[in-house]
Amino acid sequence: MIAQRLQVIAPSETLKISGRAKELQREGKSVISLSQGEPDFKTPEHICDAAIKAVRDGHHGYTMNPGTPELREAICKKLKEENGLDYTPAQIILSNGAKQSIGFALYATLDKGDEVIIPAPYWVSYPEMVKLAEGTPVVVSTAFENDYKMTAEQLKEAITPKTKMLILCSPSNPTGSCYSKDELKALADVLKDHPNILILSDEIYEYIVFDGEHVGIAQAAPELKDRVLLINGFSKGFAMTGWRLGYLAATTDIVKAVGKIQSQLTSAPCTISQKAGEAAYLSPRDSVKKMVEAFRERRAYLVQALNEIEGVKCFNPGGAFYAFPDISAYLNSKTPSGDEIKTSTDLCMFLLEERGLAAVPGDAFGEPSGIRLSYAASMEHLQEAIKRLKEGLAALSK
Ligand SMILES: Cc1ncc(COP(=O)(O)O)c(C=O)c1O
Repeated sequence: MIAQRLQVIAPSETLKISGRAKELQREGKSVISLSQGEPDFKTPEHICDAAIKAVRDGHHGYTMNPGTPELREAICKKLKEENGLDYTPAQIILSNGAKQSIGFALYATLDKGDEVIIPAPYWVSYPEMVKLAEGTPVVVSTAFENDYKMTAEQLKEAITPKTKMLILCSPSNPTGSCYSKDELKALADVLKDHPNILILSDEIYEYIVFDGEHVGIAQAAPELKDRVLLINGFSKGFAMTGWRLGYLAATTDIVKAVGKIQSQLTSAPCTISQKAGEAAYLSPRDSVKKMVEAFRERRAYLVQALNEIEGVKCFNPGGAFYAFPDISAYLNSKTPSGDEIKTSTDLCMFLLEERGLAAVPGDAFGEPSGIRLSYAASMEHLQEAIKRLKEGLAALSK
């Protein structure tokens, strides 16, 4: 009954942990979850007010398929002022979240067998979305020592005549790493010799950076701009995950192609959310800054506490709200009851079952030596999580 197409798609690994965590909570067990991928803040008041006003003012109908001209203008203004990038409203298409923009962008550009280079650790959906679009994911493992960022050398080696696209995610989910301007320029230097390769630049965590300003590849290498599919949205920076609003900025041709798919499958995103998005972009970023300061404080605590645990190594992530410590010293060990811990998934299941700590295994992101801990959680929860992690790891033996 189910289509062949779905045979190649893996179910989300992250759901296994979060599903079990919810089950345990329902049974009345104490579970501290650091598995969440969304800010633990409310959407800022002025954005909510704009949405309420939109409802009251009767903005109840469909908008144009690529989104309202007003919001697309606001996005162009933002891209010019904050990123130094020139786009016209015809080069922008809004969607129900960045996830949809990525999926449709892949459908619009990939042919069967086209290779897509994905540096690992990667966001869980990239390889599955590429497969769904009949492309072939080419996963490139990166080094902890380089904060899990792909080098120009690694990129060069991964390119074949079939390469159609490179996916970059900076700041990264799951590592929090950010590519610097020079690192992006080095990658761009390689890409200059391959004019047919597109670059999907996922910048959804743009606003959550701690050290200097965010830089995307179109800014670092303007000569590549026409090959960049810039993905962004409102979910993370404005704590608007549930409002489902993201966008793609690209050449008019690509935007038109994505528009064709969107017009048949979903149409434009929610009109009220688009009004909220306009308010978000057209007002000062005070609430964003406040949220980033809270994340900065938690990051400092979490990274230091992780590095104080014997055998655990963690670099200071430059952005997003994740730490991705290397826990490989605890793999191939045994639990007090004699169960083997072979993989990061085994380790996360043990931590959840025995210590009530939910973390996402690196296996889900294509990097078996790490686990992802989200610090979109209160300081008290982070402290308790560290206590549980420390105790859990100490109970393992080789
Ligand atoms: C790297 C990355 N890209 C895209 C998305 C999707 O964002 P949205 O909620 O806007 O669909 C997420 C959400 O977790 C993400 O982490």
